[in-house]
Amino acid sequence: MIHYKVRPLRLEDIPDAIEVALCSTYQYSKESLESWMKHDPEGIIVAVLDSGKVIGICATVIHNNDVAFGGAFCVLEEYRLFDVGNELLTRSLKHVEDKNLGLNCTTDKLLIYKNRGFNIFEESWSILEYEYLGPLNTDVLSDILPAGVELKAFQDSYLEAIYAYDRMLVGYDRREIVKANCKEPSTKTLIAFKRGICVGYGCVKINIFYAARVGPLYCNDQNVGEVMFKRLLEQTPSAKGLAMCTMSNNLIANGCAKRMGIPIHQNLLRLYTKEKMFVNTSKIFAQFDVDFSPF
Ligand SMILES: CC(C)(COP(=O)(O)OP(=O)(O)OC[C@H]1O[C@@H](n2cnc3c(N)ncnc32)[C@H](O)[C@@H]1OP(=O)(O)O)[C@@H](O)C(=O)NCCC(=O)NCCS
Repeated sequence: MIHYKVRPLRLEDIPDAIEVALCSTYQYSKESLESWMKHDPEGIIVAVLDSGKVIGICATVIHNNDVAFGGAFCVLEEYRLFDVGNELLTRSLKHVEDKNLGLNCTTDKLLIYKNRGFNIFEESWSILEYEYLGPLNTDVLSDILPAGVELKAFQDSYLEAIYAYDRMLVGYDRREIVKANCKEPSTKTLIAFKRGICVGYGCVKINIFYAARVGPLYCNDQNVGEVMFKRLLEQTPSAKGLAMCTMSNNLIANGCAKRMGIPIHQNLLRLYTKEKMFVNTSKIFAQFDVDFSPF
């Protein structure tokens, strides 16, 4: 019998929470955990022993009145199969009330979620997770932008253009988390403009396993996405590898990974409790954050 309590993640828990996450592979960074925590202070919860040691973590982040997204679900190996995961999930499901809750999962974990009301499956695409440690060969990527397109480094004055692009793509306002993400200390952001109009933006940061975590990388034209991808990676020379999640039907994004010799780590299925969410997948080169955001 384990004595633990379940409560929202606190800043002082983060080093422990990262230790839990590192026993499997999760793509977020310390700073992104903090940003999502601020976005929804009750949305990331932990199971904590009386000693204060974190033994499990689970996220269900509320995005707006209708939408929530879950992930980051992990229990330390020696505490598995003692109902800790079940407690975390039960609390997380209560947190989102009657909102449509989405998440990604591997086929071997499907039953966990089916048993808890995730009965809507996305069939037209899945999510390809790249988690790779090793050198990044960006020489195989194109650096040629289509005529009229330029890439600019992040400045506060571009935020309104980024918010508008993000909203047009995802379908709801995310300015708070978009800004927090761009402002995280390790994040580098590029914005694509075509004749002064924002036609995409992309970010990279160093994650918990010191890889370059690419995402979001959204672009109208995936040839522009490829150049952004190359230039973002070249801005993180200290990275020990790559972490990125693409849409399975985005041939250019997945083609880039293939040319770089990066294997697919896992294929994730998208489930929802109430209804599918729709997005133009051709504009998504890399997802925002596979554990906290639907796209
Ligand atoms: C998945 C995980 C969080 C479960 O934690 P846990 O504390 O062992 O879970 P519990 O003992 O409370 O069991 C909860 C449910 O998960 C199921 N489950 C536990 N381990 C499982 C596994 N390895 N594969 C499939 N299902 C599993 C249990 O059967 C139970 O299902 P039910 O209540 O619907 O019958 C834990 O195994 C883990 O951290 N795995 C590595 C990370 C991971 O795969 N996360 C999920 C990503 S989709």
